[in-house]
Amino acid sequence: MRNHKAQFITLEGVEGAGKSTQKDALCQLLDANGIPYIETREPGGTPYAEEIRALLLNSSGEIPQAKTELLLMFAARAQHFETKILPALEQDIWVVCDRFTDATYAYQGGGRGLPRVWIQTLEKLVQGERIPDVTLFFDVPVEVGLARAGERGNLDRIESEDIEFFERVRRMYQQIAAHDSERVITLDATVDALRLTEEMMNQLTGRWGLTCRPG
Ligand code: TMP
Repeated sequence: MRNHKAQFITLEGVEGAGKSTQKDALCQLLDANGIPYIETREPGGTPYAEEIRALLLNSSGEIPQAKTELLLMFAARAQHFETKILPALEQDIWVVCDRFTDATYAYQGGGRGLPRVWIQTLEKLVQGERIPDVTLFFDVPVEVGLARAGERGNLDRIESEDIEFFERVRRMYQQIAAHDSERVITLDATVDALRLTEEMMNQLTGRWGLTCRPG
């Protein structure tokens, strides 16, 4: 049996790191252990926040300023966090969220070069002291990730940035992971999907005291 309160789990990494496949595997692990959870994503996760997502990722028309982008990320997050994430956790339902505030530090802070203190201020405003319990950081060299993302076709506005942007994003993720290694589990996402799932399971089952594996 599980021995933990409802966990707030986030998945992070540059484009093409394989988050989606591993998110499915994680959800299967929770299913196999009879753990109630919701699966969600950022930016987005509620109808209103998904509208903000569409605005953020749309690659045609007027290009938002970095500051505008930052504020919209947190506008979407405020809606998502208050109406979906917190209520779930309060009802003892686990939350599996594809990206969260670490992505803002990485993309708007690292990638766009916005001051860290702005992000910290907005984080406090929107989340108070609440941060994810566990963050899975799928680390992959930028060129490998972008090649995988390119195969999927149809890059959105942020995915269309240049390689130097993503190098800064990756470095920021690595800094966060080094600084907060208790919360952030770094996984080498260059290996094939099955091995990556196995590595992730090893890390998580021990941590949460889960007894069985999916499949
Ligand atoms: P996704 O493709 O993983 O769904 O993420 C959408 C894009 O939004 C991705 O390129 C990363 C970006 N993003 C930010 O720039 N800042 C954020 O805070 C979040 C959550 C995502």
